[in-house]
Amino acid sequence: MSSTAIVGLQWGDEGKGKIVDLLSDQVDLAVRCQGGANAGHTVEFGDCQFILHLVPTGVLRPDVRNLIGGGVVIDLPGLFRELSELLKKGIQWQDRLFISVSAHLVLPYHKLVEQADERARGPHRIGTTLRGIGFAYADKITRRGVRVGDLYHRDKLITRLQMGLDAHRDQIMTLPDVQLPTADVLADELQEYAEKIRPYVVNPSEFLHEEIARKSRILFEGAQGAPLDSDGGTDPYVTSSTTTGGGIRTGLGVDPRAVEDVIGVTKAYCTRVGNGPFPTELTDEIGEKLRAQGKEYGATTGRPRRCGWVDGVLLRYTSRINGTTHLAVTKLDVLDGMDVLKVCTKYTDQHGPLDLANLDGVQPEYEEWPGWSESTVGATKWSDLPANCKKYLERLSELAEAKLHIVSTGPRRDQTIRM
Ligand code: IMP
Repeated sequence: MSSTAIVGLQWGDEGKGKIVDLLSDQVDLAVRCQGGANAGHTVEFGDCQFILHLVPTGVLRPDVRNLIGGGVVIDLPGLFRELSELLKKGIQWQDRLFISVSAHLVLPYHKLVEQADERARGPHRIGTTLRGIGFAYADKITRRGVRVGDLYHRDKLITRLQMGLDAHRDQIMTLPDVQLPTADVLADELQEYAEKIRPYVVNPSEFLHEEIARKSRILFEGAQGAPLDSDGGTDPYVTSSTTTGGGIRTGLGVDPRAVEDVIGVTKAYCTRVGNGPFPTELTDEIGEKLRAQGKEYGATTGRPRRCGWVDGVLLRYTSRINGTTHLAVTKLDVLDGMDVLKVCTKYTDQHGPLDLANLDGVQPEYEEWPGWSESTVGATKWSDLPANCKKYLERLSELAEAKLHIVSTGPRRDQTIRM
């Protein structure tokens, strides 16, 4: 695999961080393509746990260069908090980090207007991460956003900040006790970060073109998951970027043929954080057990994740829209000791075409698979797995129409089966 994309096949949090980290020992460059600090990629090795929000996971490997691509929205203070945390844990990133000149910025007023918007939606709120992601992308699309490159053009910067403040002021003022800075004050604050990132700023298309010409091995690191995609997902309970393989191409301005293999990541069960439909959700003691055993709490917000069975209808769909060639299944060990496992293969009362935006009330039809009593924790070989476990994994691979490639049997790097 010389250039590979890693994408989420569920509602984010599939364990992409660990898979990216594993594969980054074979690459020269790791690239974040979309999303922002709403993502939380958790990686454990040695005695350390790392949770990366904006910096590509490749940063944890000393020989890997890292690009934050143009499709990402960057919260500069958050980025620097993350970078200084990395330094404290001994990760030197200074000569290995690159930032796209065209990435848009998440500004303080994006977080405030998102808070006000969520409040105004009342029972219909999305349950966002409150990281200002949606409004940063909204300003990008409505052409009043601030790009990294604009930081070096003060007049344009002030104009854009003023436009953003004016557009969102009324809604922000519905929040109690809030004060908005002026465009000048905001520009001064940004100036400090602008100087800090200046040495790392690149044009992502030119940068990648050169890397590809030099035959660098590239890992494209997707964030969130396909049903959270703003085009094909469970609208309105979605994030605001293109979370499928398509987002890699548009976010970076890279030759679409640059991505050779696509590894889709799914948990051995399913989770979702935030509101929205989840046909295979378990609100009973089995769901509780999955949450407890899988330590299912959001890496970014700490919210408890909703848990359920694998939804094979979604798995097939999300695998197809990503052009998934290989499947990675994570958190297999969490299912140890379950008598029966269920997989949804059909929605019984679906009328008309599959429509992820209108899944409320669909009834999942399940097939049942016998569980296993043995522990799979830390298994490193396919031959170590119980027979029922192998059959279950093979079924997931069949549903995803993708070759089983990696099975994760614990949070650490070494707790992995590579096929
Ligand atoms: P936003 O991306 O903060 O606007 O949130 C929109 C929806 O996407 C909410 O349901 C979030 O919980 C969900 N979401 C955003 N990023 C992630 C992620 O990295 N993992 C899981 N869910 C996410």
